Amino acid sequence: MNMTNGPSPSASGASGSRGGSASKTERPRYGTWVRMRRVRLVALATVACFAGSALTFVSPWFRLFLLPGVLFGYITLILLLSVYRLGRCGGDYQQRIHRFIAEEAGPRPGEVLDVGCGSGSLAIAVAQAAPECTVVGVDLWDENWEYSQEQCRENARRSGVADRVTFQQQSAAALAFSDASIDTVVSCMTFHEVRDAPDRADAVAQALRVLRPGGRFVFVDVFTDSAYYSSPEHVREVVARAGCSITQESSLRELLPLPYPLRHSKVLGHATVLAGRCP
Ligand SMILES: C[S@@+](CC[C@H](N)C(=O)[O-])C[C@H]1O[C@@H](n2cnc3c(N)ncnc32)[C@H](O)[C@@H]1O
Repeated sequence: MNMTNGPSPSASGASGSRGGSASKTERPRYGTWVRMRRVRLVALATVACFAGSALTFVSPWFRLFLLPGVLFGYITLILLLSVYRLGRCGGDYQQRIHRFIAEEAGPRPGEVLDVGCGSGSLAIAVAQAAPECTVVGVDLWDENWEYSQEQCRENARRSGVADRVTFQQQSAAALAFSDASIDTVVSCMTFHEVRDAPDRADAVAQALRVLRPGGRFVFVDVFTDSAYYSSPEHVREVVARAGCSITQESSLRELLPLPYPLRHSKVLGHATVLAGRCP
């Protein structure tokens, strides 16, 4: 999926005020999965192409710029609509997905791991849904993304859960936790982005490696997208090899109706909820 976050605030009002003292100006800043750097680049290409096509008085060949101009314009539109839909004003779908995962994980006590926590939104949602748990969010926070560890900590503080949610810089391809040390593992739209795992499903295996017997996992990722995973069967095999069982495997669209363009295959159309437990 070609999406990640932007720096603009898009936190839900609910999660922003649940900490009790969070004022309107102290809402967490989660951003969306759409990288604003990328939106700006494609928008610039659109403007450049249309400007080029206006040079028909020099040569009629400049009209050819209209073709890429329309294509870049369409991509810009899809990206901007996605930012709108994922954000607070357009339905808050990013937060809805995180709250959905938190509910699926259940209000279990113990330690929860969020693999690829981005701006901390899911880790915080889990902590808010399960008052007896502690959560650790890990992420690379490299230059490809517009999230940071500091942003996560500030969001946890603004949400009133900083005493139970911590963040560590780690790769999902080589988690620094011992085997069977975590009670619940969650992850949202991360595994397919783990470029340091030769096979994206290896990151799934890592996440399951740290799960305790009796532990629960809830993952949302584009498991049916052949651009990232050889096949959904392969992912199932990885889960089975880790000694875990799948209790739910459904398209996200079936569980949470998504508006256009989020249901598009290039956006969240391939997003699948994979949940289960380690016996
Ligand atoms: C689409 S974002 C999702 C962020 C967050 N899970 C959410 O739902 O808001 C993908 C995330 O994966 C993280 N990521 C990419 N490669 C990673 C790796 N090797 N280890 C840990 N995190 C990684 C990125 O930094 C980014 O935060």
